[in-house]
Amino acid sequence: MGLTQQLHDELGYDPDDGVPQVSDVLLAGMIPVGAVMRAREGAVPMAIARLGSGRLVVVEDECPHDGGRISDGFVDGELLVCARHNWELEVEGRRCRRATPCKLR
Ligand code: FES
Repeated sequence: MGLTQQLHDELGYDPDDGVPQVSDVLLAGMIPVGAVMRAREGAVPMAIARLGSGRLVVVEDECPHDGGRISDGFVDGELLVCARHNWELEVEGRRCRRATPCKLR
């Protein structure tokens, strides 16, 4: 078994895949207003974003709609927008929820 496979088995992720830990991103302070990026907390996928007001948020990187990566989306003011089906999300703790109720037609 190679070292990378051994680390993957022990950590639950590949430490060489280029996705930084949340703490490293926060220490570097490298999130500009309007940006969202992928990170992880241990093995848990996370998204870090700086909303339009400058508020920094850290949420689990899983859209409540269908599991899309929130970090693949974008910031729109105080909302995060999931790129998969364009749900507008507001941050509630470490998770997101849909900002507007579903409209039935
Ligand atoms: S998975 Fe995010 S909007 Fe559908």
